This record gives sequence, structure tokens and C-alpha cells, in this order.
Amino acid sequence: MLNPFLAKPLDLHADLTGKVVIVTGGTGGIGKAAAYQLSEWNAARVIIGCRNEQKGNAVVAEIKNGTGRGNIEAWPLELADLESVRAFAKRFKECGAGRLDLLLNNAGLVKNTFKKTKDGFEIMFQVNFLSHFLLTNLLLDELKATPGARVVHTSSGMANSAGKIDLGNLNGEKGFSTARFYGNSKLLQIIYSNELNRRLETTGFIGCESNLNHLPFSY
Ligand SMILES: NC(=O)c1ccc[n+]([C@@H]2O[C@H](COP(=O)([O-])OP(=O)(O)OC[C@H]3O[C@@H](n4cnc5c(N)ncnc54)[C@H](OP(=O)(O)O)[C@@H]3O)[C@@H](O)[C@H]2O)c1
Repeated sequence: MLNPFLAKPLDLHADLTGKVVIVTGGTGGIGKAAAYQLSEWNAARVIIGCRNEQKGNAVVAEIKNGTGRGNIEAWPLELADLESVRAFAKRFKECGAGRLDLLLNNAGLVKNTFKKTKDGFEIMFQVNFLSHFLLTNLLLDELKATPGARVVHTSSGMANSAGKIDLGNLNGEKGFSTARFYGNSKLLQIIYSNELNRRLETTGFIGCESNLNHLPFSY
């Protein structure tokens, strides 16, 4: 069956039988295309994070209808709210999945004006990087317990072209530009991936990737 959310047919085949995956930002764009594909490849469970439950449920129905599989579900996840991230992780730990094969940290946004979340962080810093950092760390036990587990970040070429991290101004209060702070959030994903990989390489964990948006699902 063709993935209707891809611009081009994907000439890849995989069997994910038994595997449990989480996709943040599964309600649109790359995340939705990825969720469709992972579901079609027969993952045991595909859990998409969604900030709007109604939209999440509609996407789940659409994907189930396209793939004919019942292996996908939408759970609330608002990355601009650290409490929501903690609740999502808690629900996963208690859901009985017992493993986590893929955590696709994909949700992201570009914000043209300086805005802080209710947690007090610049919104791109939190949504694109910090909340995914928290989510990954909260789910580390499940990742480590799953042979071959992966964490994938959907990064961006803007990490290279615009990212330049100033540790004295991580939150944008001493100067903000959209390109710089979007680029920084994507650069932080890469730095974090590399460090996580280094720390976990002895645990049987396959690895972390921060793809510069050359995912096969990308368009
Ligand atoms: N498309 C590109 O050309 C491109 C290039 C470089 C990098 N990227 C990166 O790739 C990723 C996906 O991009 P895309 O083009 O597929 O984006 P998209 O179509 O705008 O979809 C973004 C997804 O993230 C979710 N999201 C946004 N803010 C959120 C929040 N506060 N909490 C939870 N979820 C939130 C959205 O949810 P809603 O459905 O509720 O809005 C949506 O599911 C992003 O991280 C982006 O930075 C994309």
C-alpha cells in the first residue's frame, strides 16, 4: 500500500513486528508520514504524541483506514509544557509495553517572535530540544532494556547554517533571532545525540541519530 503522506513512493521495506515506537509530532508533516509507514511495517504499537487530542484521533483513524492495521494510538503531548511531557512518559512506563524500540523526537516549530512557555523557556528551545531531552531521559530505562533501541531526532540544516550556541543566552533574553534560536534548538539535538550515543554505547543500544532532515519520510 502506498503511503499517502509521501511525495514519492518509498522503496524501502521493513518488518517491525513486535516493536514499539513513539513519534512526537505525529499529527502532521514528517511525523504523520513516519507514523503511517511504521504502522504499515507492522510495528506492535505506534504511539503518536499530539497536542490536540481531536486532531490526534482523526489522524489515527485516517492511518488505520489507510493501512488496515489497528496498531496506532494517539496520546496527549504538549511539548511547551514540561508537565505534559512527564505525564506522557509516566503513561508509557505504566502501559505495559515493556520495551521501546524507537523514539522519534520529531515535533518542532519555528516561531517568528520571542515567546516563553509557561515553564519559562524560549518556546523553540523547549519544544524542539528541551522537552525531547526530558522525554528521552525519562524513557531511558525502557530504551536501555530494549536491544537495538534507537532515538532519532529530526534536526535541520539550520543547525549548521544558523546555530551558534551562547551558553550565556540559552533562553534568548539577551537577544533573539528566529533563525539563530531555531538553529540552536536543532544543533542542541545533534550535540545531545552524540553525547547520548557515547554514554550508551556499552549498553546494547544501537544509537542516536540527529538526521539533518534527510529522512526517507522527508519531502
Ligand atoms: N519540513 C521541512 O522542510 C523541515 C526541514 C528541516 C527540519 N524540519 C524538522 O522536522 C520536524 C517536522 O517538521 P514538519 O515539516 O513535518 O512540521 P509540521 O508539518 O509543522 O508538523 C509539526 C508537528 O509537530 C507538532 N508540534 C508543534 N508544536 C508542538 C508542541 N508544542 N507540542 C507538541 N507537538 C507540537 C505539530 O502538531 P500540530 O499538528 O498540533 O500542529 C505537528 O504534528 C520538525 O522538528 C522540523 O523542525 C522540517
